[in-house]
Amino acid sequence: MDMRTEPRPARHSLETITSIRWWSPGLCSLRLRKPSGFTFQPGHYARLGLPVSGPDTIIWRAYSIVSAPAEPVLEFLITVIPGGMLTSRLAVLQPGDTLALDTTACGFFVPTQLSPGKDLWMFATGAGLGPYICMLREGSVRKSWSRMVLVHSVRRQHELVYAEEIFRHQADSPESLQYIPTVTREAGGGAMHQRIPQILADGTLQAHVGLPLNAANSRVMVCGNPAFTADMRRLLGERDFQPCRRGFAGSMLFENYW
Ligand SMILES: Cc1cc2nc3c(=O)[nH]c(=O)nc-3n(C[C@H](O)[C@H](O)[C@H](O)COP(=O)(O)OP(=O)(O)OC[C@H]3O[C@@H](n4cnc5c(N)ncnc54)[C@H](O)[C@@H]3O)c2cc1C
Ligand SMILES: NC(=O)c1ccc[n+]([C@@H]2O[C@H](COP(=O)([O-])OP(=O)(O)OC[C@H]3O[C@@H](n4cnc5c(N)ncnc54)[C@H](OP(=O)(O)O)[C@@H]3O)[C@@H](O)[C@H]2O)c1
Repeated sequence: MDMRTEPRPARHSLETITSIRWWSPGLCSLRLRKPSGFTFQPGHYARLGLPVSGPDTIIWRAYSIVSAPAEPVLEFLITVIPGGMLTSRLAVLQPGDTLALDTTACGFFVPTQLSPGKDLWMFATGAGLGPYICMLREGSVRKSWSRMVLVHSVRRQHELVYAEEIFRHQADSPESLQYIPTVTREAGGGAMHQRIPQILADGTLQAHVGLPLNAANSRVMVCGNPAFTADMRRLLGERDFQPCRRGFAGSMLFENYW
């Protein structure tokens, strides 16, 4: 049995899908009704579940919450993995269908885990963008930093999801928010084209943003592909960034999606 296939937990509810937006055939934003009393902080994830082999066995997977805490819905950005146990089932659902929701949100990928700093750098690959959208929607996170830099790496231009929304946030705070998309498998579009560790290591990114990245002033969040987060941990470690640990507020924080 899959490690994450487990008997029905004590506290979950069945929630109705209110909308699904397909950005491309394998990438969607899904909204669920938010049950009353469901609370979370920007950066937290929720567990979503679907029954397999009968109603009493549910497969559960973690998904970062995209919507802000004040919104009446829970929004998630989900990549469909071909043959994936949960996402291949999820891909055929329609608004009005239901999903199981573990009613406790959790996680440590919250900016308050970081030690105080001046600038927040937010790095994402693919669906790893999700928690940062929540942080941009939540005003209190934006007020905590002098500057915020959001760097999103995707294979193809059409995977630059939420770009319009990010540009709107940027227009609201042109001095304090910068959005840097990097598209690694397509030319054009004005974006950068190399992987994040590369543009960070050779300084292209910092020059483009016009801001140094150093452990004294910068705090860094990294989310998505685990090979990417491992590269970033090594690269930032070489520059004296310290990982957050239980009871220790460091200067870099990671979320691995698989
Ligand atoms: C804290 C946390 C937050 C997460 N948040 C999100 C989120 O917001 N959006 C999201 O899409 N996913 C997120 N994930 C990943 C998600 O929990 C599932 O692992 C993913 O949706 C695959 O589930 P599945 O049952 O379809 O595939 P499985 O049957 O579990 O896995 C199939 C294979 O795909 C690999 N895999 C899993 N995810 C990916 C991926 N994105 N790209 C390439 N390979 C992958 C797995 O290692 C496995 O080998 C998060 C994971 C964690 C731990
Ligand atoms: N995103 C979608 O629309 C979509 C749709 C259908 C299916 N899928 C499936 O979902 C899975 C994940 O695809 P994805 O595109 O979301 O994620 P991904 O493979 O993690 O790619 C997202 C971005 O991360 C970069 N990246 C990958 N490994 C890296 C590393 N070690 N260091 C730095 N950067 C790294 C990629 O660069 P490179 O281009 O250089 O690798 C790309 O820019 C795949 O199996 C895919 O087939 C995705």
